[in-house]
Amino acid sequence: MKYGFFDDANREYCITTPFTPLPWINYLGNDGFFGLISNTAGGYCFYRDAKLRRITRYRYNNIPNDIGGRLYYIKDGNTVWSPAYRPAETELDSYECRHGMGYTTFNSTKDGVNAKLTFFVPLGDACELHRLEVVNNSNETKDLTLYSGIEWCLWNAVDDSQNYQRNLSIGELEVIGSTIYHKTEYRERRNHYAFFTVNTEVDGFDTDRDVFLGAGRAWNKPVQVENGKSGNTVASGWYPIASHSIKVTLAPGEKKSYVFQLGYIEVPRDQKWESKGIINKKPAVELINKYNSDAAFEAAFKALKDYWDNLLSIYHVESKDEKVNRMVNIWHQYQVMVTFNMSRSASYWETGIGRGMGFRDSCQDLLGFMHLIPERARDRIIDIASIQFENGSTYHQYQPLTKRGNADIGGGFNDDPLWLVACTAAYIRETGDTTILDHPTPFNNVEGSEKPLMEHLRRSINFTINNKGPHGLPLIGRADWNDCLNLNCFSEEPGESFQTFGPSEGPVAESVFIAGMFVKYGKEYADICDYVGLKDEADSIRAEVEKVKTATEEFGWDGEWFLRAYDAYGNKVGSNECEEGKIFIEPQGFCTMAGIGQEKGFGAKALDSLYKYLVNDYGIEILAPCYTTYHVELGEISSYPPGYKENGAIFTHNNPWCSVAATVIGDAEKAFDIYKRSCPAFLEDVSEIHRTEPYVYSQMIAGRAAVHYGEAKNSFLTGTAAWVVVDITQAILGVQPTLQGLSIKPCVTKDFGNYSVVRKYRGAKYDINVIQDGSGKGLVVDGAAVEGNLIPAVEGKKEYKVEFYI
Ligand code: BGC
Ligand code: NOJ
Repeated sequence: MKYGFFDDANREYCITTPFTPLPWINYLGNDGFFGLISNTAGGYCFYRDAKLRRITRYRYNNIPNDIGGRLYYIKDGNTVWSPAYRPAETELDSYECRHGMGYTTFNSTKDGVNAKLTFFVPLGDACELHRLEVVNNSNETKDLTLYSGIEWCLWNAVDDSQNYQRNLSIGELEVIGSTIYHKTEYRERRNHYAFFTVNTEVDGFDTDRDVFLGAGRAWNKPVQVENGKSGNTVASGWYPIASHSIKVTLAPGEKKSYVFQLGYIEVPRDQKWESKGIINKKPAVELINKYNSDAAFEAAFKALKDYWDNLLSIYHVESKDEKVNRMVNIWHQYQVMVTFNMSRSASYWETGIGRGMGFRDSCQDLLGFMHLIPERARDRIIDIASIQFENGSTYHQYQPLTKRGNADIGGGFNDDPLWLVACTAAYIRETGDTTILDHPTPFNNVEGSEKPLMEHLRRSINFTINNKGPHGLPLIGRADWNDCLNLNCFSEEPGESFQTFGPSEGPVAESVFIAGMFVKYGKEYADICDYVGLKDEADSIRAEVEKVKTATEEFGWDGEWFLRAYDAYGNKVGSNECEEGKIFIEPQGFCTMAGIGQEKGFGAKALDSLYKYLVNDYGIEILAPCYTTYHVELGEISSYPPGYKENGAIFTHNNPWCSVAATVIGDAEKAFDIYKRSCPAFLEDVSEIHRTEPYVYSQMIAGRAAVHYGEAKNSFLTGTAAWVVVDITQAILGVQPTLQGLSIKPCVTKDFGNYSVVRKYRGAKYDINVIQDGSGKGLVVDGAAVEGNLIPAVEGKKEYKVEFYI
């Protein structure tokens, strides 16, 4: 069953009912000001940091699930309705929500009135624009009252949700004309405020939530709206909101339009005040004036569309598979830009108050958006490397506002450092820019500790070399990619964090997954060394890679698949000898990608085993059989009910690893099959089972052992997005950036047919046609046959015509 449809021409998903199984959301904003918005206009906004600069309030675990956010009401006689269905929840005559690239629109009708709402964040400014257009399609004159509404969050989202003894006394506002300024805590240490305005004179306003709603009422039935009034209240303490009311008379066929603006302003500390207690509104007024007309709104909207047109022209495929085209050209690339902005911080499932930017998460996200915004990727790599410790290990997370490592969680996740090599190598493959390696980059953000980025990579690699266990395999530390495999934790008490309880290191527990990573990224590091002329270092690292490869072949292979780990007692994890958790997905993907045991056919066997034990209708499960009891020596993984999360769900992030792995061993059938199984567009028809958005990946899809098999959870913020981009665009369709230039190496099934890709790369445009005529002729560049897969780059050449014959 579907709840809408893809509109590829407009790059939108059109949702045709407010009653999706879960809120289906979108993201607004590119840099600084961000908003989350659902298909009933719920959600929240923040500036840079969802914890420290929350602008509007949102309640997780609410009833109904998704209420609050952007509140618009139309009072028409005795009927009050909302174009986004919520908050009023009045049945509509028609409803439509379209999520597009950085914007969301609603188009609804009730009793002959049509209302369109458009939401987006204009490029380069710290505000969200809302336009409400109303048209009278009836034969009578309509006297309407329009209401806007948002609820302020008192900035620090944690305090806002728990420190009521203080924060219910601190709310402060100013109202000037149609603009409501939120200035809580500005009187003391803050030098920022927010405002909500509309480009017309208003008939009234309210900022006191209790007055607006009336005693005992909720957002669906504010007393002021019901009575067609506003109280012109200026709240002091309690719950400050901002609501405007506008009376409008529409003749039959008449249309009116209003631009609302929700803005955020920072003022230099010495210019905070206009006069005693009165905030300096100059910068706000400038911003307000910039967007106070339909023309300005439309120009900013067009600029946003142009921005996305340009981004999405960097990689564009045309194949006969409509779903592949749609996901590659639109939604995969869109999702990686969202993960670039959010990491795992703010979604409908991540509150934005817990985790900041994850080290491994952000490094992997980079793999997906590298081609889109390489300059910003460069900055991100430096930010991430700056939280690394001198010994090569690293903080696990940092807070985006401060860019400092997060002390609460600390370090000790032994896969982390290697991901820095992965993303830096990808950056150089994309751009050819090796100057990044010279960039002076501090350790732990300590001024004066700067060393070239290359030294950070070196220490990352050496960290693994210097931290191996009894089998010569890398020690796991607190956990590797699988945060729930806590082999040194041994927690017995509820409430203890599996990730931070217990020692961060143990001398025995080893990870075969990190071994796979080391072999793959050790080689990539050695390639970089060669590329920049460090031949001896390249040789010595390749020798280290060989050692880990040999150790993995000897101690990390279980006969039919790769082992997962050795626990703190030296017992095997993920072996046929185990009662539960006999086989895990991660090492099958990574060790095969790394080419471990290639000559012995390990990869093909490992992938066959995945198909035998882990594959289901919607993807490949993370392990089997699921743990049915808690294992203190394994940690959080065994805490989940069977079939959920890391205990046997499809943890989608690692599925593309296996698809890439299949391409490494030349198995095009498996590669494409794995890609399709969990790809959201391919699951659209079973949206009632899948439940999350059909345009983006979710973190997990419950496995066969789960009560709700097939149900997805935690949509949007997952490393799956980045890895899928790598998988489909590079490994399967075969357009691969390398240190030396662009390489064409497709791994597609016969059925997939011919296809073309336009790729912009290092300042040139490549028109690539892959032709399956059975000739096996390979690469032809501008009419001339070329040996191998690499397109020879010609200095100054701007366009290449490329054919690849299979
Ligand atoms: C989740 C993991 C996540 C970890 C880190 C666990 O509860 O299952 O997926 O990586 O928390 O916060
Ligand atoms: C989600 C976390 O964000 C990520 O870092 C981790 O690798 C996966 N869960 C698997 O546990």
